[in-house]
Amino acid sequence: MRRLLLLAATLAGCSQPAAPADTHYISIGTDALPTARAVAAAHGAQLARVDTDGPVSVLAFPDDELDELAHLMHEQHDRCGGFIVHDSLDEARAALHVAQRDDRPQLDYTLDRAAAVHAVLPALDAARILGTIGELQAMKNRYYQSESGAAASRWLRDKWRSFTTRADVTVELFDHGYAQKSVILTIPGTTRPNEVVVLGGHLDSIARGGTASTAPGADDDASGIATLTEVARVLLASDYRPARTVQIMAYAAEEVGLRGSQGIARAYQQRKVNVVGALQLDMTNYQGSAKDIWLMKDFTSAAQNTFLTALIDTYVGATWGLDACGYACSDHASWYRAGVPASMPFEARMRDRNMAIHTGKDTLEMSGNNAAHALKFARLGAAYAIELGKGEAGGTATAMAAPATSSGHAWWKLLAGLGAAVLIARRATRRRG
Ligand code: BES
Ligand code: ZN
Repeated sequence: MRRLLLLAATLAGCSQPAAPADTHYISIGTDALPTARAVAAAHGAQLARVDTDGPVSVLAFPDDELDELAHLMHEQHDRCGGFIVHDSLDEARAALHVAQRDDRPQLDYTLDRAAAVHAVLPALDAARILGTIGELQAMKNRYYQSESGAAASRWLRDKWRSFTTRADVTVELFDHGYAQKSVILTIPGTTRPNEVVVLGGHLDSIARGGTASTAPGADDDASGIATLTEVARVLLASDYRPARTVQIMAYAAEEVGLRGSQGIARAYQQRKVNVVGALQLDMTNYQGSAKDIWLMKDFTSAAQNTFLTALIDTYVGATWGLDACGYACSDHASWYRAGVPASMPFEARMRDRNMAIHTGKDTLEMSGNNAAHALKFARLGAAYAIELGKGEAGGTATAMAAPATSSGHAWWKLLAGLGAAVLIARRATRRRG
């Protein structure tokens, strides 16, 4: 009842900036309003629409029922549903107007870093991606409010930190005010440090039961985090020195309304950080369709998507297609809304998607216990970081590598090492000449 009164007060005085402590503003597809109303009604609350702009509506919604809404949206709406949680009414209203600001100069997407890309691609290792997904899915859940969700952040920070002893590379936790923190790895740019390239995925997982749930989230999104982890490992193993700053991010709390990425995007906007591109890897290891990589057309930048198709054709050697989520389905939307060119390369087309996500069955078994599909996204991620981050890859990608997680790679590694040695020798000769 207290909540009802608070809600009524909130709606009556629409000008105050923050929702009551136990209520948040959400933006949600207008077609999903009946679902939101049903969830609230089941708990004795009545919702009033605060604002609407065609396909998107804004509501004040009780925190306690957000989980339930997330589940119902997934179950009842063919496209998984989707809503975004906002801290203030102003911010929620801003989400109504989703058209991307296009007042920035068009970036130069010319591919001119083939040597650097080819120097790191052979080091990408599907067995390591598989191993990381295995470790993440073994955690009981990575829910944003649970102790295991918080532990996942610390575990990932330590793993990323182990990839280099370089003092200029940092790995930090971004505190959002709930248990789980986002993890941010930064490789500072040498000549254009104020231009930032972001590669991200979400660390949290969700299933019915919240903090008590078993939510392995192997595909959603341990696969994306493991893919990014392998990209980070090879970039640092090859002593990559980008011209632009490259940041690799594991966002907290995506499953409850893109909250982690939104917090970071908003903080960056306030600090006037110039993010020149954001790549979202959310679900990379379930090959549901004949074509490999599906670029989501909505809440993304058409120009950056075209750049990605060039990267796929040039470096990944995979097939691709275009599809749409139909709503703000992942963290790329947080960047998109902040005016940043964003992309979301996805593992399948929407209609062939992995139906086990958000349940205890989202395990590696759904992907045949291998990471062959995710490896294509790792190749794309590494190419994106280098071709947009520019700069050079210096040392050998295998020099810094920890012992391999699988056997049977010894010959391959020897060959890669020899290849790198030849490259270095050639470069030294060129420099002398
Ligand atoms: N990885 C999913 C999004 C997804 C699922 C994309 C299936 C394409 C196919 C993501 O983690 C998710 O579940 N998002 C929520 C929306 C979010 C705003 C709470 C969803 O889809 O309901
Ligand atoms: Zn996801």
